[in-house]
Amino acid sequence: MSIKVVSTSPFPDQKPGTSGLRKKVTVFQTPNYLENFVQSIFDSLEGFSGQTLVVGGDGRYYNRHAIQVILRMAAANGFGKILVGRGGILSTPAASCIIRKYNAFGGIILSASHNPAGPDDDFGIKYNTGNGGPAPEKITDAIYSITKSINAYKILEANDLDLDRLGETKLGETIVEVIDSVADYAELMGELFDFDRIKTLLASTEFSMCFDGMHAVTGPYAQEILVNRLGAPASALQNCVPLEDFGGGHPDPNLVYAHDLVDVLYGDAAPDFGAASDGDGDRNMILGRKFFVTPSDSLAILAANSHLVPAYKGGLAGIARSMPTSKAADRVAARLGIESYETPTGWKFFGNLLDAGKATLCGEESFGTGSNHVREKDGLWAVLFWLNVLAARQESVETIVKEHWQIYGRNFYSRHDYEGVDSDRANTLVDNLRKNGAALVGQKFGTYEVAFCDDFSYTDPVDGSVSSKQGIRIGFTDDSRIVFRLSGTGTQGATLRLYVESYEPNIAKHSLDPQEALKELIEIADRIAQIKILTGRDRPTVIT
Ligand code: G1P
Ligand code: ZN
Repeated sequence: MSIKVVSTSPFPDQKPGTSGLRKKVTVFQTPNYLENFVQSIFDSLEGFSGQTLVVGGDGRYYNRHAIQVILRMAAANGFGKILVGRGGILSTPAASCIIRKYNAFGGIILSASHNPAGPDDDFGIKYNTGNGGPAPEKITDAIYSITKSINAYKILEANDLDLDRLGETKLGETIVEVIDSVADYAELMGELFDFDRIKTLLASTEFSMCFDGMHAVTGPYAQEILVNRLGAPASALQNCVPLEDFGGGHPDPNLVYAHDLVDVLYGDAAPDFGAASDGDGDRNMILGRKFFVTPSDSLAILAANSHLVPAYKGGLAGIARSMPTSKAADRVAARLGIESYETPTGWKFFGNLLDAGKATLCGEESFGTGSNHVREKDGLWAVLFWLNVLAARQESVETIVKEHWQIYGRNFYSRHDYEGVDSDRANTLVDNLRKNGAALVGQKFGTYEVAFCDDFSYTDPVDGSVSSKQGIRIGFTDDSRIVFRLSGTGTQGATLRLYVESYEPNIAKHSLDPQEALKELIEIADRIAQIKILTGRDRPTVIT
């Protein structure tokens, strides 16, 4: 087998976004497009010769082909060993677990998360470092800068490997080992949670649950952990056969896209607990019987109940949340007497805090929760955490959430997404806010008065790196706020995200619908940013 050096020329659009490079499959199919990006990853790294690389993806269309290319390129570039999930499958948290467990140099994860999959839909690729977490900005910036000047890539001339059979083969000098995609991850979950207690809960005739895999990567993980190891009946799983096009769905676990699960949990004879995960297994949605838990509340509630879980009963070092995530978790941190951190959107910003032992739990409003057990958010981990809490407390999801609000007050919260907006219009909207923000301070809008307006900038407390322009925040004197930012994961036009939050200590008002409770703030957001006029839309595409 010989190493071929193929000459190529740069593509101008390979800048990694919030979570790696995401494009249409058809773009990745452009000759050399994938190869350029992979070579740029390798060229941005130093010292990997003879080291181990982990490779796997969410199983979407193009996954198998991309993996074969990456294996040949990793071998040509001098990796000593490559661990690849069987069938090319690794959920994002499982990939993080495996990188850490086997002291790999890093990993390449093929995923466009919850974006639809298929020949005309999305594909994605990202690099994770040796701590198991998404590459920090200094690496993604280096990758991007190399993509702009790349002129050659290295690839081994070899046939496709059989990815479906466990065991080792050789690719040139490199050992490729096809590993079980689920086993290591399942074992880790068993170390964190009280599996005996959860088993008892799941065996009880008083309790039933439904997990929806949305035809994406978590199906086999849920089967092994929830059914095989914890004894849930097979009927507790739905849509758990992974498909290359995710069954034509949009595997984003929210009230709109996870409608199959919502129908079950809001239907007659609804189970006590419902959960779903996304395309690559890092997101989660938690439901009780006819009851939705907002991701921001979920983070706060997990933190407040963490003493019930074996892995966390010794206490939490701190809690980190992304800036647009509600401040509910901050209230728990304050009561526990631990630090809380506010980071920009994207899991990569939690990595340093976790590595430095400053934070134990992290979360984002976008259905992402996780801890220091890996360096990615983790869908099934959150499901197991909730099951552990339910098993320990023997109360319903709704009771637990409402009791939490009684103790801490309720942070009403909602996100409005305007998807596929014309990019120029979306940029104008944000630019206007940047320009006019300072003038808003002190202005009154109905019962609200603007206390501050800024474009969020974050200084990493561990390495001092600064990330600016992370979203426009408008804070009001009563601690409520409005946040605007543009998505960094979309592949078509721009997605404007509006995040709205208010705090309500009065228990009598806790049962209000969040859209009702936030109505005035939502109108103020439109007045200030001229959303309807500038986007040309009279309502959001998705409300969560
Ligand atoms: C979105 C979410 C963000 C999350 C990311 C990857 O990014 O908002 O919290 O980390 O997906 O799952 P965005 O499209 O907003 O840039
Ligand atoms: Zn995801």
